[in-house]
Amino acid sequence: MSINRKGIILAGGSATRLFPITFSISKQLMPVYDKPMIYYPLSTLMIAGIREFLIIVNESNLESFKNLLGDGSSLGISIKYAVQPKPEGLAQAFLIGEDFLNNSPSALILGDNLYHGNDLGPQLKKANKDINNSTIFVYPVSDPERYGVAEFKNNKVINLFEKPKKPKSRYAVTGLYFYDNTAVEKAKTIKPSQRGELEITSLNNLYLKENNLNVEIMGRGIAWLDTGTFDSLHQAGSYIRVLERRQGLKVGCPEEVAWRKGWIKDKELEKLAKTMIKSGYGKYLLEILNDPLKDNSKNF
Ligand code: DAU
Repeated sequence: MSINRKGIILAGGSATRLFPITFSISKQLMPVYDKPMIYYPLSTLMIAGIREFLIIVNESNLESFKNLLGDGSSLGISIKYAVQPKPEGLAQAFLIGEDFLNNSPSALILGDNLYHGNDLGPQLKKANKDINNSTIFVYPVSDPERYGVAEFKNNKVINLFEKPKKPKSRYAVTGLYFYDNTAVEKAKTIKPSQRGELEITSLNNLYLKENNLNVEIMGRGIAWLDTGTFDSLHQAGSYIRVLERRQGLKVGCPEEVAWRKGWIKDKELEKLAKTMIKSGYGKYLLEILNDPLKDNSKNF
């Protein structure tokens, strides 16, 4: 029996930096140009090859997420849901997700992180492939003090710091983590940080200490965007709009990924398209069905 990596999308939190927008709606359901934010991280993990998901949300938003994505069967995937009562840290996802994971290797992605770029697919597939491997990604940023930051020695990462006042490099840890099947066990040993959270950086440092963490660099050809403030949300929407309008191809479209992976058939894509025909999103899904190069690009 093959053991598959399972995906967790963390889409809770209170998004106070987006008040009043997020008083009554989840940040991860907000639009990033032409689709809800959560479509992007969902597509990212689907591109990696993951088909079983747990989406962790606030209680008040549970029904909205279910209305949007259901049980995932229309996308050829499975989606379960869990509630995080309070935002007590990213590593809490592994305590909440213990039963769902059931000793499987995992991939955690933050529901507000957007990735795009040519080399992304191969990097994601590589990280997903070896189920005994754990991989995180670092990305150069101009404001590393806002993130988990890597310290390097002889080109190797030797330590990670959460929001350091004096960052040891400009390489931030992005919100995408692939772990072997010991993440739950390790998460149980973590103590809350000074800000009262179970830090993902603590979990990553446990893997580092065991010499069991690949740290991959996401290069300049990849865009990693976050969407936590009015400006970054707007910028992410503009970025996606520019790309999509220029190429006529969509970024972060889970229906397309499912179809290109062969998880849903032409007829099923057509059915999905018809439910959204008036918005242009559905029209796009019909267009890709008729793309003359579609068979070349199916291996997504
Ligand atoms: O974006 C990458 C960064 O994410 C990493 O570099 C940091 O190491 C990591 O700690 C995290 O940074 P933040 O602390 O800034 O993440 P934030 O609190 O903004 O939470 C990220 C998303 O996860 C946010 O959309 C809300 C959601 N979340 C957060 C917490 C703490 C939850 O769903 N539950 C939670 O308990």
